[in-house]
Amino acid sequence: MTKLIKIEEMNIDALELTRLLSAPAEALRQGGTVAFPTETVYGLGANALSDVAVAKIYEAKGRPSDNPLIVHISKVSELNELVLEIKPYALELMSAFWPGPITFIFRKNPKVPSKVTGGLDTVAVRMPDHPIALKLIELSGVPVAAPSANLSGKPSPTKAKHVIEDLMGKVDFIIDGPDAKVGLESTVLDVTGDMPMILRPGKITPEMIENIVGGCQLDPAISAEDLAGLAPRAPGMKYKHYAPEAEVEVVVGEASKIILTFESAVANAVDLNYKLGIMGFEEDLLVLEKFLETKYKADVLKRHIFLCTHGSIKHVEEFARLLFQNLRRCDEVHCDKILIRGVSEHGIGYAIMNRLKKASGGKVIRI
Ligand code: TXA
Ligand code: MG
Repeated sequence: MTKLIKIEEMNIDALELTRLLSAPAEALRQGGTVAFPTETVYGLGANALSDVAVAKIYEAKGRPSDNPLIVHISKVSELNELVLEIKPYALELMSAFWPGPITFIFRKNPKVPSKVTGGLDTVAVRMPDHPIALKLIELSGVPVAAPSANLSGKPSPTKAKHVIEDLMGKVDFIIDGPDAKVGLESTVLDVTGDMPMILRPGKITPEMIENIVGGCQLDPAISAEDLAGLAPRAPGMKYKHYAPEAEVEVVVGEASKIILTFESAVANAVDLNYKLGIMGFEEDLLVLEKFLETKYKADVLKRHIFLCTHGSIKHVEEFARLLFQNLRRCDEVHCDKILIRGVSEHGIGYAIMNRLKKASGGKVIRI
C-alpha cells in the first residue's frame, strides 16, 4: 500500500517538516521507495547503496535496467563515498550551482552498486534545491538514487497528481508536495574529462557553465535534429521519451506564420473529425481564439480543439515549467494530435527544444 504525505507549504516550520518526513525517511533507510518533490521534477527515491532497494525503482517505473539513476545528496561531504575523483573545475561548478538543477557525472566509487549506474564506471550525483527533498535525504542518512517519478516513457511528473496517477500502489510513500518550479529535468554534465560536457540540457545552460569555467562541450548526439544517427552518452537520452499518447508535431517560426499554421491545422481537425491539441504562447492563443470564435461554433471547437498555454513569450521559463503538464493534459482529454510552437535554441530554449524533439520523434518544422 502507498502512503500519501501531504506537505502543501514550501516554507513549513523545520520541526514540523522533520515530523512529517520521519516515516518516509525511515522507509528509505529500510530499503523502501519514496516519491518526493524536487525543484526540477518529482523523483522516485531508494537507498542508492542497496541493490535490493534500487531494483524496486526499476520495477515500479518499468524502466530498462541499462538506464542509470541519479544519486541525490544533501551535503557535499556525501560525495566521498560515491565518487573517486573530483576535478578542480567540477568543484567550481558545484559551488556555483549546488544545490540546484544540475547533475554531475563522476568516476564511480566501487561502493556504488552497478545497478545504480547501469553497469557504467561513472555515477551521476545531484544536490536538489528543495527543502523537502534535502530534509528527506538528510533524515534518511543514505544517498538517494532517484529517477523521475513517472512510468518509463511518460512525461516527467511536475505535480504530485502525476506521480499518484503513475505510481500509486507501486511505491511505499508519495510526498504530495508543491508543483515543481523548473519543470524540466536537471542538466546532466560529465565532469570526468578535461572539459565539461553536457549530456542532457536543462535550466543550467552551456553559457552559464562557460561563464564559470571558460568552456563547455555538448554531446553531439543531443543536438542532432533527427536523433537517429548518433548514440547519446547519457543512456536515458536514447529512449522514446516524454511521449504523450497523441502524435506530436513542433513548429518554429514567426508568430504570424505560426498562427496561420494553427488556423489551418484547426480546419483540418474539424474536416477530418479528430481532436487537436494546440500549445502556444498566451499571445498566440489570444489571436487564434478570436479568429476561431468568428469561424466555428462553440460546440465544434469544444469537440475538436484543446488549447494549452506556454505562458507569455516574454517568460520562456514558464514554457519549461508548463510543458510536461500540458502534454499530460492533452492525453487526459484524448487529443489525437498535438501541435506545439517551439522556440529558438538559446538559454533554456535549448532544453525545451531537446524535450520537444524527443516528444515528437524529431518532427520539428521550421516555417
Ligand atoms: O532533475 C532530475 O535530474 C530528476 C530529479 C528527480 O532529480 N531526475 C531525473 O532522473 O531526471 P532520470 O533517471 O529520469 O534521468 C537521469 C538521466 C538519464 O538520461 C540517464 O541516462 C543519465 O541521467 N545518467 C545517469 N547516470 C549516468 C551516467 N553515469 N552516465 C551518463 N548518463 C547518466
Ligand atoms: Mg526520467
